[in-house]
Amino acid sequence: MTEAILPPIAMLAELTHRCPLQCAYCSNPVELLKANREMDTQGWIALFEEAADLGILQVHLSGGEPTLRSDLAELIACLAGRGVYTNLITAGVGIAEGRIEAFAAAGLDHVQLSFQGAKPETTEKIGNHRGAHEKKIETARRVREVGLPLTINAPIHRHNMHEVPDFIEMALALGAERLEIANVQYAGWALLNRDALMPDRDAVEREVQIVEEAQERLRGIMTIDFVTPDYFAIYPKPCMGGWARDAFMVAPDGTVLPCHAASTIKSLNFERFGDWSLGRIWRDSPAFNAFRGTDWMAEPCRSCERQEIDWGGCRCQAMAIAGDAAATDPACIKSPLHARMGALIDEAARMPGNAPDFQYRRIGKVVESAA
Ligand code: SF4
Ligand code: FES
Repeated sequence: MTEAILPPIAMLAELTHRCPLQCAYCSNPVELLKANREMDTQGWIALFEEAADLGILQVHLSGGEPTLRSDLAELIACLAGRGVYTNLITAGVGIAEGRIEAFAAAGLDHVQLSFQGAKPETTEKIGNHRGAHEKKIETARRVREVGLPLTINAPIHRHNMHEVPDFIEMALALGAERLEIANVQYAGWALLNRDALMPDRDAVEREVQIVEEAQERLRGIMTIDFVTPDYFAIYPKPCMGGWARDAFMVAPDGTVLPCHAASTIKSLNFERFGDWSLGRIWRDSPAFNAFRGTDWMAEPCRSCERQEIDWGGCRCQAMAIAGDAAATDPACIKSPLHARMGALIDEAARMPGNAPDFQYRRIGKVVESAA
């Protein structure tokens, strides 16, 4: 049924694609933008002002690594001045002395800090950055010292799933309010590296048991967010809470997208802030309207009782696996391609050795290969 278009409430602002880490599971597009393509301070401030006018309540400041923007405190102050909740999503490496304090003084509300491993050698290997683990521990300490709430984000895949118990203990020790056990979604660099990152079925079963036990044990002490990984699930997640339903993202050059992997849907064109206003993009962009609501759905979604629960799942996953962004997400058991997800798990498990090499994230051509 066609619904009224309600204003968005959340925005993910990818301030830059630059990053000191090179994680192979990154969901950024494989073609990363260089610094000279980034919007300048005034561009982001104009965008944030308009977002606040539109009714945006929360902005996730992300990247790449958002702290590489020397104007980050200014951008936070702009949002805080408009009463917008700000969440900094950081890898926590190389943040100069005094900057976390400056972010807090500018009005930052929350920090989400990623750890690639629960052990130094794992963090170092996955991110391809020497000493990363110790730097992240220090960042966590500084975040807590200035009194900001802390979420630890643990992107989980084949190379670190066995460390889930250690991630839980580490997050507790760091004083985190929340731990996200974030099973990697296969978009961008992660899709390129899917075979190398795919866990096996037994490991996922163990992971689910460990997390459920910890959620019970730590109730009231630390929240643990967890969703069964897509390829192992029977129903898909409501990706982005539904396409163009209440959130959107902005790429470093100001291109406004319904989700982080939308640019893989080549039949869609995406407008840039500045060429169009945010409000016009949200209401009128053909790309935003392509999969909004339920009218676009074909069977089995069209007659499914879950259509307003998961909104047909992920359009980008449908594109990647079915080759059709309008198809039912193959993560869904009702999709005729659901068996393909299982076959991809089995194909990855048959790869020689423990896992094939993965390609580290890099601006420029795909060149690096290591494991
Ligand atoms: Fe969701 Fe479509 Fe599957 Fe129904 S058929 S559960 S709406 S993805
Ligand atoms: Fe694009 Fe899920 S990542 S809809």
